[in-house]
Formats: sequence, structure tokens, C-alpha cells
Amino acid sequence: MNNFNALEFVDGKLKFIDQTKLPFEESYIFTDDFERISEAIERLEIRGAPAIGIAAAYAVALAFKNKTEKDEQYFGAVINRLKSTRPTAVNLFWALSKTEDAFLNISKENIYETILITAIKIHEDDKNRCDMIGEAGLELFNDKINILTHCNAGALATGGEGTALNVIKKAFKSGFINHVYADETRPLLQGSRLTAFELEKSKIPFTIITDSMAAFVLKEKNIGMIVVGADRIAKNGDTANKIGTYGLAILAKHHNVPIYIAAPESTIDRKINSGKDINIEYRSDSEVNSIRKIPITNNEYNVMNPAFDVTPAKLISGIITENKVYHYPFKF
Ligand code: MRU
Repeated sequence: MNNFNALEFVDGKLKFIDQTKLPFEESYIFTDDFERISEAIERLEIRGAPAIGIAAAYAVALAFKNKTEKDEQYFGAVINRLKSTRPTAVNLFWALSKTEDAFLNISKENIYETILITAIKIHEDDKNRCDMIGEAGLELFNDKINILTHCNAGALATGGEGTALNVIKKAFKSGFINHVYADETRPLLQGSRLTAFELEKSKIPFTIITDSMAAFVLKEKNIGMIVVGADRIAKNGDTANKIGTYGLAILAKHHNVPIYIAAPESTIDRKINSGKDINIEYRSDSEVNSIRKIPITNNEYNVMNPAFDVTPAKLISGIITENKVYHYPFKF
């Protein structure tokens, strides 16, 4: 168990750990300003698909903290602002649709309280789902193995102990993990900063590698499994996750190493048939040509910065959800 909460609702405010400062500084922001939460999602102070959804639901509630009118136009503007923050993680849109359902059924009073109850429920449900995902993943382990993960799909990214990282945490507690290799995860280093931070707190032995070392590590370090999270899973199992996941899946195939996706059912977008329909977020060039505002190349050179890629379903060995482990070909 980690001894921190990435997101917490205290004294009428959202309290969240500023993930851009980790692992150097464990600092928290308290706010009841929905615009501040929208900015936190855009800046990746709050990140990870389930955490984005939870924070957005709290933000909708907070937007009505001092309002007594059921102002539908204002509600629409709040929802649209939050929808504009990050396009790929379906959990954001899923959580916002839950607040929309709540809003539609609200009479005039208690708008804030009613949406807040919805947000708390989304948060608590996600915590339970993380536990169930961790438990469900245990059926995939027989021996003590080395495991590789990419990005951060842990307590920082969810309302509980994580998805992919909770599979690792539970497997470690059951004696199935020898060593974790954590991809650094360029450009924003969610692996070397955030996954490493969590693994250290959980006292799980790990080594950080750059993304370009993954092929070497799969060949040389006896990796038994790769497990990663997801931002959106299409009906056929095509999965959007942090940029680099697709490459890792191709490497896994070549080295005959199984690769699993761990995600709550809320990450499955049953409205889209395949990965072609997933909107990939492109982020600022400055995340590629500088690190913490320090230039690492000439900022006039052309760069690109897609935040996610889509791994075709046929490269994925299985998808671990709170209900079960699905195997290819996927039928959800
Ligand atoms: O850009 P990020 O850091 O929000 O990307 C996060 C990921 O890609 C995670 O793997 C995914 O959201 C799952 S988090 C449980």
C-alpha cells in the first residue's frame, strides 16, 4: 500500500498531488476551482485515465458549489471545458456522462451535493475496481518472474492502487515478482519518475530503463511478462495507451513474451469498433525538445509529440479487467 493519495476530497476541496514535481517534491494542491482542475489535467499534474475521470467529476460538482440555479447552459460550458482537456482517455468522457445523468435528474436544490455524491461514487468504485483488477491478474502467474511495465498505471493514475501496477503489486505480495523493469517513458518520464516513486514506496525491486533499451532487456533479462494500462480500448480490443506501448507489443511478439493490458471496464469504449476511431492527443513540441524547460536540442527543429499509440488487438495476449481476464479474440 502506498502512503499517499493522488486524489482526495477534503473540506469541500479537491486535494491532489502535483505529479509534475515527482519524485523530487511531494507537494499537494487544494482547490475548489473547476478551472484550476481543468488546467491540472491539461498540464498532467493530474494524469492517468481513471484519475482524470475522477478529478473531472469532482470538478463538475465544484463548479456548482456556490450555485443554486439549475443553469443548463453553464453546465454545458463546464462539461465542454473539461472535455477539451485531454481527448484520448475514455474514462474522462465516461465520468462526465455520469455527472450529466445526475444533473438531468436533479430538481433545483442540492445540485452541488448530488453531483458530489456521483463523483465520490466514481472515486470509490474505481478504488474497488483496482483491487479486483489486481486480484484478477493473479491467475496469470505460476512462477517468480521478471516483469516489464511502461508509463504509470498505478495509484497516481487511479482512485486506488492502480491497474497494471496493482497487478504487479499484488503479484509481488504473492511471491511472483522477482524484479520490475520500468520504461522511462519519454517524453514526460512517467515511468522513471512516477512508477519508480510508487515501486520504491511499495518496496518492490526495480530498474529504470530508457524506452530504447526494451528490446535489449527482453532479449537479455528473462522477462516473463509485460503489463501496461490503457486509455481507451475499442470493441475489438485495439488499445490506446502511452506512446511506446505499440512498439513494446511488437517487441513482445518477437521475443515470445506475453503482453497484458490492465484496465477497468470503464476504459472499454463499446461505441467504437476499432482503434481507427480513437482520437490521439498531440501535445506541445516543448515536451520533446526540452526537459523541465531546459532545451535538449535546437527548438527550431521539427518534432512531433503524439501522447498515445494504438496497439492492434492481435498483438495483445489478454486484457485484465475487474470482471475477468479476456483473451484474444476479444469479446467484451
Ligand atoms: O499521459 P498520461 O500520463 O495520462 O498517460 C497515462 C497512460 O497512458 C496510462 O497507461 C493509462 O492512462 C492508464 S492509467 C491506469
